Amino acid sequence: MSPSAVAQLPQHDMGLAKIDMKGKGSSNGHTNGVNGVKKPEFLLDRNLHKTFPLVTRGKGNYLQLADGRTIFDATSGAAVSCLGHGNERVIKAINKQLTTGVPYLCSSYWSCDVVEELCKELINGTGGEMSRIYLTGSGSEAMEASIKLARQYFYEGDKNTPRVNIIAREGSYHGNTIGALGVSGHVARRAPYEPFLMKVHRVSACNAYRQRRERESDASFVARKASELEAKFQELGPETVIGFVCEPVVGAALGCVPDVPGYLTAMRAVCHRHGALFILDEVMSGMGRCGTLHAWQAEGAAPDLQTVGKGLGGGYQPIAAVLISDKIVSSLSNGSGQFVHGQTYQAMPIQAAAALEVQKIQREENLIKNVQVQGAYLEKRLKSLLGGHPNVGDIRGKGLFWGLEFVKDKQTKEPFDTKLGVAQRVHDIAIAAPFNMTMYPGTGTVDGIAGDHVIIAPTYIVTREEIDHITKVVAEVVQLVFEKIGDV
Ligand SMILES: Cc1ncc(COP(=O)(O)O)c(C=O)c1O
Repeated sequence: MSPSAVAQLPQHDMGLAKIDMKGKGSSNGHTNGVNGVKKPEFLLDRNLHKTFPLVTRGKGNYLQLADGRTIFDATSGAAVSCLGHGNERVIKAINKQLTTGVPYLCSSYWSCDVVEELCKELINGTGGEMSRIYLTGSGSEAMEASIKLARQYFYEGDKNTPRVNIIAREGSYHGNTIGALGVSGHVARRAPYEPFLMKVHRVSACNAYRQRRERESDASFVARKASELEAKFQELGPETVIGFVCEPVVGAALGCVPDVPGYLTAMRAVCHRHGALFILDEVMSGMGRCGTLHAWQAEGAAPDLQTVGKGLGGGYQPIAAVLISDKIVSSLSNGSGQFVHGQTYQAMPIQAAAALEVQKIQREENLIKNVQVQGAYLEKRLKSLLGGHPNVGDIRGKGLFWGLEFVKDKQTKEPFDTKLGVAQRVHDIAIAAPFNMTMYPGTGTVDGIAGDHVIIAPTYIVTREEIDHITKVVAEVVQLVFEKIGDV
């Protein structure tokens, strides 16, 4: 498709005219550039070399821009807005909490019903596998808290515990604070801070597309991964290991790479054999995103500690959590009684009110069923439209969490030259007219530097017709980007 043909592609309407978007198309005085594009002047934005379109409103799956365009949010932001934008029930719950006059309470002095209710909702969602919840303001903070809690679990029993080592995986992302980044195997995000980061030991990711041997079964592949972890324990001395941390479906670092069935169970067995903790980071893959409330529930491999974030509050408040199993809670309650940690903004009533409503809506409206149904359709459509594309190496994911990995050569799986910025190009073209849709780009998919992918992660309220729209746009954008790259 030539660039001029792109201009002739129909604007994807999707019945947007029916949506009440007050302020649609208005120039509201916030724009200081052309066509509603605002160059940030005061915020230290994600990229000072770029401009970002100005958003004025959101409703359901759509975002309204100041330049008059309506964008279809096919990624729920960064896999966050699981209920879509502007949900009336959540807004009402937040307002109700505000009117009590206690959006914030000092968690060292007080308790609060709405916070307790949220924690109960979360514990119930684990089928009783977890017994307490620690609430934070972000996924990074939750990961930070979980590794400190893991260490304190052993420290409570023995102040001289030799347990000092954490094992995590290559090609992982667990957050940007120094501790969480230390656990992360995301090469590019670590690079500037490498001298600050704590020593964390690594095993390989569980990436069937790139690592499975010819004719290797799931069981043999998983056994190979478990032996690798066992060897790492032996290398470090099993009595020195605090625990093993992984994402059940790797989000931003690898582009929705799911663990092979049986993997979590096998890795948990290795940890428990040595008295170490099995820790899951479900900040991106959890809270329904993969078609079960918790990703580990697909194979019943409950962790000792688990983090959740993004979909917990659905973007209505900054909130994340550590889900804590009884053995860890008991070590604290039989010991010092205190987790040696804490932040000003933790377990805030306003955060809890929002997250509780998000979780109730998800449960009452059985939205996880919709994740399963539309997720299966999304997979089918993506594979049928793009499975044969010479530059789409792999289409993988679970639920409404799907990644496309791009390759220069489908046979050898060779990635594109990083200079081409393939994933970013896909994003830039998708978000511009006439496509007007988000696609979440990521790089470093192969070795932390090279490799490109995009993530598609629609809201849990997405319909079949909207999946048709999303997949049609994805296919058109991919087609266009690689035709253009072919011309370079
Ligand atoms: C798996 C995973 N863990 C942790 C984090 C960090 O969460 P936050 O950005 O809320 O700090 C992220 C964020 O993308 C994530 O994907």
